[in-house]
Amino acid sequence: MPLPKAELHLHIEGTLEPELAFALAARNSVLLPYKDAEELRRAYLFEDLQSFLHLYYGLMAVLNTEDDFTDLADAYLARAAGQGVRHAEIFFDPQAHTARGVALGTVIEGLARALDRSEERHGVSTRLIMCFLRDQSAQSAMETLEAAKPYLGRIAAVGLDSAEVGNPPSKFREVYEAAAALGLRRVAHAGEEGPPAYIREALDILGVERIDHGLRCMEEPELVERLVRERIPLTLCPLSNVRLRAVDTLEEHPLRRMMDAGLLCTVNSDDPAYFGGYVGDTFHAVHEALGLDDERLRELARNSFLASFLEDDEERRARLIAEVEAYDFERPE
Ligand code: HPA
Ligand code: ZN
Repeated sequence: MPLPKAELHLHIEGTLEPELAFALAARNSVLLPYKDAEELRRAYLFEDLQSFLHLYYGLMAVLNTEDDFTDLADAYLARAAGQGVRHAEIFFDPQAHTARGVALGTVIEGLARALDRSEERHGVSTRLIMCFLRDQSAQSAMETLEAAKPYLGRIAAVGLDSAEVGNPPSKFREVYEAAAALGLRRVAHAGEEGPPAYIREALDILGVERIDHGLRCMEEPELVERLVRERIPLTLCPLSNVRLRAVDTLEEHPLRRMMDAGLLCTVNSDDPAYFGGYVGDTFHAVHEALGLDDERLRELARNSFLASFLEDDEERRARLIAEVEAYDFERPE
């Protein structure tokens, strides 16, 4: 049995494996500009976040029906469960679908079908986090929040993703205020490619509880001190950072230094179909590349549950943390 863990930074559209993309393309009569799954996979050589986003949004053309979203989420949950994931807080990008004429209800109902049976089928509890595309207007984000009102029972939190630089958190002040007023929790991507100031804005202007990525906090010691003092969780994605060239190699990733500084770090897969691994693979990779020992891996797993939105199920959180504490790395079976 793998180390139990929660995954808190996972874009469901980023779990679209090339083989499933081709199967859905055939089902929906969508023509992809690649010969086959191998050729598509060979295109996954990214320069930066923007070059990845181009391919990521393009491939979404195959996601059209409720069944497509159900199949996508089911495939992720099965795979994640196999790597020890027991709780997943899943991002989705509604604007990337509504812009193509896919109704918000299709997306949410399709995902919800897989999520509703996930605990029973895969042993994975779930939450949904609706992300706004920060390179779209604040008004478009507000319209998306408005359109989501019939589905608020299914959405735990709002998030902010897509092209970061030039799109500061402050652009979304009003929509985050409106989301908070609706009882939604708040997270945001900040400090992936953008400067440390964006992390401060996400905290001070958007009122987020967690920072997604937050890598660049390391450039400002006072900011690190604040994140430590306020116990703000960071959802780091080391394999993503290497593939999108935020760091040159995994060996140079600051995760270990961040943990040493006392930051509440979690590791996650971000877009596992594109970045070379799911979250269990990520744990394995940081163990190898950064020499994180068993107790450091246990800390990351414990943090993942501490940082999760399981407040409405503290019993489950306590049970999962107890499993982490009791986990025997010598006898993983
Ligand atoms: N960063 C920003 N937006 C995203 C990402 C990411 O890593 N993945 C999917 N959308
Ligand atoms: Zn992300």
